[in-house]
Amino acid sequence: MSRVLLIGNGAREHAIAAALHKSGAKIWSLMARMNPGIDTLSERSFEGNLGQAESIPNLEKIDYAIVGPEAPLAEGLVDRLETRGISAVGPSAKTARLETSKVYARLLLQSIQPEANPRFQVVKHIQDLDDAIDRIGLEDLVIKPDGLTGGKGVKLFAEHVHSRDEVLIYAEKMIRRDGSVIFEEKMRGTEFTVQVLVDANGTVESMPLVRDFKRAYDGDIGPNTGSMGSYSRESHGLGYVTKNDLDKSLGILKHAIRGVKENTGESYKGILYGQFMKTPQGIKVIEFNARFGDPEAMNVLSILDSSMDEICHRILDGTLKRPSFLPLATVCVYIVPEGYPGNGVESDQPISIRGEIGSELYYASVYERNGTVYTTGSRAIALLGKGHSVREARTAAYEDIDKIEGRIRYRSDIAANV
Ligand code: AMP
Ligand code: GLY
Repeated sequence: MSRVLLIGNGAREHAIAAALHKSGAKIWSLMARMNPGIDTLSERSFEGNLGQAESIPNLEKIDYAIVGPEAPLAEGLVDRLETRGISAVGPSAKTARLETSKVYARLLLQSIQPEANPRFQVVKHIQDLDDAIDRIGLEDLVIKPDGLTGGKGVKLFAEHVHSRDEVLIYAEKMIRRDGSVIFEEKMRGTEFTVQVLVDANGTVESMPLVRDFKRAYDGDIGPNTGSMGSYSRESHGLGYVTKNDLDKSLGILKHAIRGVKENTGESYKGILYGQFMKTPQGIKVIEFNARFGDPEAMNVLSILDSSMDEICHRILDGTLKRPSFLPLATVCVYIVPEGYPGNGVESDQPISIRGEIGSELYYASVYERNGTVYTTGSRAIALLGKGHSVREARTAAYEDIDKIEGRIRYRSDIAANV
């Protein structure tokens, strides 16, 4: 039986913990904040800085580690664990640049599959911003920070910024923060997520497709969030994504993995997430993530019918096989604090759960004190419904939503009309 160090404390990591636990692994978890769901599934729980996993006592008892969130990947945690002789499911800092530098990702894609990029400009100098705006066109502009922003950094003209001055102010701030910013053309179409497992020999196996809903409010409006919910179909596809579209998307991910190996000399391993948009001009890449999506991890791991522990071993050994998933649809709905996302977010408010929960409940960014669960400034609880159709899965998730009480809100239209 394996003993696994799980790094992270969100709902994604709660879902990883549940899958590992189901496959018989013993879990040691390192959390920035005690997630009550992960804690219950763990043999040992540690609270501390996620980037400092090496300082956990008796690390030699661990068979391998798995890193959930992007920030420790960016800081090179996988590299440091490997130096200590502990294998880790997750990419090295250099190969994680597919997520951690949007400039790196766009330029790599430009060299391997330029047609999957929107028109874009990398701007490094504040004095070049005006020209770059004109080259893309103000009305069509998307501003994308180079570095990590927790899903909240992308600004679309007319929705999040409304004038040239606002564009300049935000872009300048991002150049000061990251050294560069990307301006890209606003693409129009429908998004989908493809998550793949990648082993140390470069074998790639895909997981069910997921559609996520990043905007804060019903009707897909408002600021971007970490995501407010998601769904997947019992077929593991999505009606609007053809076989050709999927082949194209998988081809892009495989090319990206090969491209990273060529220009870093290191093999990408772990999970690679591709967010794509189906547009009238073909399949385009919105972004890559070097980890499971959150909430997309819940959609796929809750129907995983293979051993998660075995999958992790195979990723590390380079012997990955096709995993199997139950033929079920899933709908995930996020419950967030009132005021999320934004400065008025109501954190440190108690949440209570009344009655029996029939769906799966994953704790996200909450903490427990004296038996009471409190919100933070981020997403609080994910409810995941499963069923033989999206409609059934949706009913299962929403049936439980009123049982969660507190200063919270959610989107009522996740997977409605699909
Ligand atoms: P990201 O953080 O890159 O996933 O972007 C957040 C959201 O912004 C995406 O889910 C898209 O809805 C939107 N977005 C990002 N880039 C573009 C683009 N070039 N065109 C249209 N929408 C975009
Ligand atoms: N669902 C989007 C993300 O995990 O970044």
